[in-house]
Amino acid sequence: MFIIERAAPFSCEEQKRKSFPGGTSPQNQCGGRSDKVPRLQVKTIDSEIATAYVNTCKGTLHVPFGWCLAIFVGNSPRPLLKRDIMERNQPSGRAVAAFAMTHTPGLGNGLEDPPKEQVERLMAGFAEARAILDEARPELVIGLINDHFDMFGLDNMPTFSIGIADDHWGPPASAENWLQMKRGRIAGNADYAADIYREAVNSGFDLYRSGSVELVHNMLMPFKFLRPERDLPIVPIFTNCLAPPLPSMARCYALGEVIGRVIARRPERVALIASGGISHWPPFAKEDGPEDDELNRRMLKVQRVGPGGRELDPGVRDLIHKREAEMAASGRNLINVEWDKEVLAAFERGDKKSLLEMTYEEIERDGGNGGHEIAMWVMMMGALNGAPSRTIVYEAVKEWMGGVGLISYDRRLSL
Ligand SMILES: [Fe+2]
Repeated sequence: MFIIERAAPFSCEEQKRKSFPGGTSPQNQCGGRSDKVPRLQVKTIDSEIATAYVNTCKGTLHVPFGWCLAIFVGNSPRPLLKRDIMERNQPSGRAVAAFAMTHTPGLGNGLEDPPKEQVERLMAGFAEARAILDEARPELVIGLINDHFDMFGLDNMPTFSIGIADDHWGPPASAENWLQMKRGRIAGNADYAADIYREAVNSGFDLYRSGSVELVHNMLMPFKFLRPERDLPIVPIFTNCLAPPLPSMARCYALGEVIGRVIARRPERVALIASGGISHWPPFAKEDGPEDDELNRRMLKVQRVGPGGRELDPGVRDLIHKREAEMAASGRNLINVEWDKEVLAAFERGDKKSLLEMTYEEIERDGGNGGHEIAMWVMMMGALNGAPSRTIVYEAVKEWMGGVGLISYDRRLSL
C-alpha cells in the first residue's frame, strides 16, 4: 500500500535528465504543454520511500487540493478517504502509550504553593495519564529528556546521547529533598538502548554513548506522577536544551523517526515519555553574565564541570530555588499562556510543519530559555510518525513560574 504525497514540482528540463518508473518518459508526458510537472512522492506505509513523477497534463491523476492526492491499494488508485489520512498518522509498531509533560521542580516539594484547585486539576490529569499508562501494559519506557548539568557539563556537552546500561540511578542526594524521593536504582535496558544507538549511527546521528545515567527531575518527575512504582526499565535519550547551539526541531523530529523505526521492528511494548517545556524562564547562567551576579558565577562553575560539579558547591541548588522564589514573587510575567496554547494546539493537530519551523530565537523569545525543552516533545512526535495528540491538562502556575502541561497519544495508539 502506498500513499501519494505532493512535493515540489520538477520542470520538464529537470525531468529530461531523470529516469522514471514504469518506463514512462517525462518528456513525452510533459509534451511541452507545461513548464512544471508536479512531483509526487510515493510513500509506503512502512516508511520506505519511492518517488514517482506523474503527468497531470495527461490527466493520469488530478491535483484538486491539498498535499495528499490518492492512495494506491495494489495497483489500483482510489480516492483518498479521511480514514486514510488518519491511518497515515497512526504510529506503527509497539508504541502502546506516549506522553509529554512538564518537569517543573515545583511538582517536587512545591505542591502547597499554588491554589489548591489548580493543583487538584493537575493531579486529576496526572492520574488519568497514570491509568492510561497502566492499562497500556508497557514493558519499558523510552525517556526523551534533557540534562540539567547532572550528567554533562559545558566542557563535555553532547547534542544527543543515550544511556546504554541495565542500571541507572537517581535522584542525586542533593535533589532528594526537593523531589521528595529517595535515591535508588532505576532499571535500564542495555540491549534496547544499543539497538537505538546502532540505528541512529547508521542513520547519520552520531549519538554520544553513555553507560549508567543520573536521572533527576527530567525523568523522575514524570515517574513520580505517571509511574511512582518506577518498575519499568528505561532507555534514556538526552537532548541538549541548555547549552547553545541547540539542535533544530527538525533534527529532533528526525531522531524521533529513527527511534520510531526501532520501536516498529522490535516486539516490546513501549511507552514513550517526553519530559520538559513548555514556557518558562528559569534562572539561567550565561558565560557573558554579570560578574557581580553571585548565582550566575556559581552556576557557571558547576555547569562547566557537569557530573560532580554540584559537590563542588552543594549550596547552588538552594540558591537557584531561592532565586526562583524571588522571581515568582516579583510579579514579572514568567509564563506565556498564549504561546503554550499555540504549541499544545499544534501538537493536537499533529502540525509538524509549524513545530519544525520554530527557531531557537523564536522559542527563546516566546517560550523562554526553558521553552527549548519542547524539543523532546517534537522528538516523540517524530517517533509516532507525526500523530496528533490530546491535551490532558494545562495550567499556568504562577508559583512555579511556568506553564504545566501534559499531552497523551492514547487515542492514536493501537493497544
Ligand atoms: Fe528542565
